[in-house]
Amino acid sequence: MNPVIEQMRSHRSIRKFTDEEVAETDIAAAVEAGQMASTSAGIQSYCLIRIRDEQRLDRLVTLTGDQTKVARCGAFFIICGDTRRHRLLAERAGRPYETRLEAFLLSVVDTSLFAQNLALAFESMGYGICCIGGLRNDLPAVQELLELPEGTYPLYGLCVGRPADEPMLRPRLPLQGVLFEEHYPEDGQMLAMLDEFDDTMLEYFRQRGAGDRIWSQEMIEKFTQPRRTATGPFFRSQGANLD
Ligand SMILES: Cc1cc2nc3c(=O)[nH]c(=O)nc-3n(C[C@H](O)[C@H](O)[C@H](O)COP(=O)(O)O)c2cc1C
Repeated sequence: MNPVIEQMRSHRSIRKFTDEEVAETDIAAAVEAGQMASTSAGIQSYCLIRIRDEQRLDRLVTLTGDQTKVARCGAFFIICGDTRRHRLLAERAGRPYETRLEAFLLSVVDTSLFAQNLALAFESMGYGICCIGGLRNDLPAVQELLELPEGTYPLYGLCVGRPADEPMLRPRLPLQGVLFEEHYPEDGQMLAMLDEFDDTMLEYFRQRGAGDRIWSQEMIEKFTQPRRTATGPFFRSQGANLD
């Protein structure tokens, strides 16, 4: 296996970090590497905001559902979709900024490609990372705290730091569950594969001491009801046209 693939295959989210700060030069190197991810027509509609202020970090711990690692990692970032630059350019040129859902999607896709490259770069330097989707629990409060202007969409947080823990790798679906030839598989085939994956995950949860958890049951429960229903209205209020 080549070292890049080896690095990618050793990813696990880190939730406990040492006190070591992340070196500024490492942050710059990781961000610049992240920026080389593909970007739709070069629009680069993302940014990240580093939060160091202790009071802000404490508030973010609360807003993310008491995730203390937000304040106890080497560096914490807010990963944002960022359409503001294009808006400013349009405004200065006296041109309309007229978008639909496509522009919002572009910024989310671009941001995710950037953020994964960024995470991988940090991991290649021996840091651990954890994405923090809990940031979307209360987006208006996050917006207020960070005074995020129109056109910026906070998507998730990112903890980075030296790992103080070495958790087990979490299994993923088998290759045939995600890589298809020519057409999408029959529903029966898919369900049989998912049943097998339940066995893999059961073994993983048991080894982790998490008891007899059934992955497919958790997926069902996760999507029985809409969650974070304020997300759409918030992004609209930040200037996104989601039509
Ligand atoms: C967008 C996103 C949001 C996430 N939010 C959280 C979070 O709020 N807290 C947390 O502990 N882990 C969070 N995670 C980490 C996932 O739980 C983790 O990636 C997943 O269980 C797979 O485990 P692994 O990363 O260790 O392989 C998030 C991951 C992603 C991609």
